[in-house]
Amino acid sequence: MPEPVLEVKGLTRRFGAFTAVSDLSFEVRAGEIFGFLGPNGAGKSTTIRMLCGVLAPSGGEARALGRNLFTEADQVRAHMGYMSQKSSLLTDLTVAENLRFFGGLYGLQGQALASEVEFRLREMQVWEHRNLLVAALSTGERQRVALASATLHRPRILFLDEPTSGVDPLRRRLFWEAMDELVAEGMSILVTTHNLGEADQCDRLAFILGGRLMAYGRPRSLKEALGRQLIELRTEQFRALQAAARAHPEVLAAELLGRSVRLSLPAGLDSARLLDQLHQEGFAFEALPPEPPSLEDLFVDLVQRARVA
Ligand SMILES: Nc1ncnc2c1ncn2[C@@H]1O[C@H](COP(=O)(O)OP(=O)(O)OP(=O)(O)O)[C@@H](O)[C@H]1O
Ligand SMILES: [Mg+2]
Repeated sequence: MPEPVLEVKGLTRRFGAFTAVSDLSFEVRAGEIFGFLGPNGAGKSTTIRMLCGVLAPSGGEARALGRNLFTEADQVRAHMGYMSQKSSLLTDLTVAENLRFFGGLYGLQGQALASEVEFRLREMQVWEHRNLLVAALSTGERQRVALASATLHRPRILFLDEPTSGVDPLRRRLFWEAMDELVAEGMSILVTTHNLGEADQCDRLAFILGGRLMAYGRPRSLKEALGRQLIELRTEQFRALQAAARAHPEVLAAELLGRSVRLSLPAGLDSARLLDQLHQEGFAFEALPPEPPSLEDLFVDLVQRARVA
């Protein structure tokens, strides 16, 4: 198993009486894309801001590349890159001027700076926009310029806070391809997203809610651990069938999906018997083959369980 490049233990942040991040522990391994999921206000950005040194923690520990992130920050910071949720690009400068500015902050200069800027802009497919003002760029282009500027100093660990929000599916794919290239260069990435298709592409995930870690692991294991099978029933009687299905105790959930009812059942349950019973109750429907749960099911399940608790 690859070494962890980042180890977080018991990380906590309070704002007055409110605890935004509570006793959070997780690891990011070398060469992985680690996804950070959770609803709005879950504490994702607060966690990243503490790890990047923008915000002081109220408690807990973090080690990065074998050093204490909070007491030996100077030795580690140079190896970290950060793309904040609100882009930090200067909109009244051109793309190239932005990169030269940020490269300068990382201590690059002269020919090294010029060649690093060109390499990154080409890699992110924004080289042809180098003389445009950042203000003139589309969201997708702007995010790729921000990624270029966060990686000029070739960091080992990269923190990306919702880098693809507002980016269309095609440009989002382009962005993820760029991330894959960065990983191939030897970077490890912690990324937050609300897009569960993206989350599925991560090597491992942490799901946080109310500042606490609720689920942690590979996307596939997390979905399996949910212990569900999902069956879609196509029917003209969707409302009545939904109500009838909900009356069966083994049905965990029955939701409307267009003109279908989507049943959530325990993974091991023999669904044929339930479907027979619903037929006998007088319903006409076509059942699609059972599907494993998605990350969206996991997300909804965790949020609902937290509400009940
Ligand atoms: N400086 C601050 N002072 C007080 N409360 C704060 C501060 N910064 C963050 N919070 C609170 O901490 C909680 C977590 O916020 P955070 O921005 O980390 O959430 P998030 O998971 O990044 O959400 P989103 O998905 O919307 O970006 C929120 O309730 C927020 O209001
Ligand atoms: Mg956030």
